[in-house]
Amino acid sequence: MRTVLYNCGPIVCFDSDKPLVGQQMLNDDWIKPAGMAIIINNNIIESIQDSEAALGDYESHLSNSNNTKLIDVNKRAIVPGLIDSHTHLVWGGDRSREVRLRLHGKSYRDIANMGGGINSTVSQTRKMSELELFTLAKRRAIIAMNNGTTYIETKSGYGLDIENELKLLSVAKRLDLDKGTPGIDSTWLGAHAIPSGHTLESYTEEIIQSQLPAIANSGLARSADVFCEPGWFGIEESKAILQESKKAGLALKMHIDEFCDGGGGLLAAELQVDSADHAHYTNEHAREQMQEASVNTGFLPGTPYSMGSQWPDFNKMIEHQYRWTIATDFNPNNQILSLPFIGSCLVQRCGVDPLATLASCTINPSFTTPHHSGLQHGKIAEGAVANMNILHSSQWESWCLTPGHSPFSDIILEGEYLSLNIN
Ligand code: NIG
Ligand code: FE
Repeated sequence: MRTVLYNCGPIVCFDSDKPLVGQQMLNDDWIKPAGMAIIINNNIIESIQDSEAALGDYESHLSNSNNTKLIDVNKRAIVPGLIDSHTHLVWGGDRSREVRLRLHGKSYRDIANMGGGINSTVSQTRKMSELELFTLAKRRAIIAMNNGTTYIETKSGYGLDIENELKLLSVAKRLDLDKGTPGIDSTWLGAHAIPSGHTLESYTEEIIQSQLPAIANSGLARSADVFCEPGWFGIEESKAILQESKKAGLALKMHIDEFCDGGGGLLAAELQVDSADHAHYTNEHAREQMQEASVNTGFLPGTPYSMGSQWPDFNKMIEHQYRWTIATDFNPNNQILSLPFIGSCLVQRCGVDPLATLASCTINPSFTTPHHSGLQHGKIAEGAVANMNILHSSQWESWCLTPGHSPFSDIILEGEYLSLNIN
């Protein structure tokens, strides 16, 4: 099946084999001018060529075969499918009530000590069946897709024992196999909190001795992650869990420095993890070490948005040529599923260029969150997965300028054309 998108507006291509850093993130050369066509063959981008020429080729093709679909893009702009490289998509229950506690001065730790926080989601999630959790997670994935997300990394972390962690990872697997929803990259986050009945020491021991082997054996997770933060998992425990995970064949990720500079950046560099996320309070020396070790910084601006803390300095990351991404971090405490909304936070609140912001949720996370097909994604280029979004606007900058509603009219998901019917 061939799909020809003709009469395109500007196309943001990001045709790069490496993550973009510094001024590369702002380079207008990544944008093809209006008037091109994108030829899609099944799930792959076959070529990008002049619209007139493509029409000449494919109009005749069309009369000979019903295997070609021509779509007039009407000069609307096109951007790559967005990659949400850090989410917690699979959980049950509700913690909306915590917002008032926070507004009345309780910290994240206080709320956890009062019986809320991660462990409250764990008890609500443990009670739910795989099917109930799948139904919730699928709805969330569809909302994300309607906002342009074509690939999602999701973590377990609300089971915190073998049976329940495997249940959450099975839901993620099922979602990955589900047709018509974004592909899924799965991460095991057994080290998310200390479940009741355990101490930090006993749970770390259980993770390493029992949970990790079971997860690795199941083949349900590509990566392992640890919530490395003072009061949760310390440097020593995080290091032991991550080292064992690496031996078991898992890729490594970390949650670091969400509430304070806890030294997680240096550990991320030492272990050369793929991505160290949050990283809001990471000191400059640790950032340099992370850069040396090719560790991506995964900013999660939904956290400061939801909790009223301070925004990280994204433009400094560009000045220093550091490698960085953004993601929603969708979780019970931060229920944001829209990357364009997160983009708006950077562009309209933090003074970041919209092209750099777009690179941070397309081409850059494609290297920390690879596509399950083994092909490249996060870009519009020959040979890449045909994941892309058509905007309502003829100006690509509009991708992050409509907070509260989706900027996209149509989505191409692995070559499948989906109209959002909200024109
Ligand atoms: O990345 N901080 C750790 N984990 C999640 C929040 C989990 C929760 O509060 O349920 C995060 O922000
Ligand atoms: Fe997270």
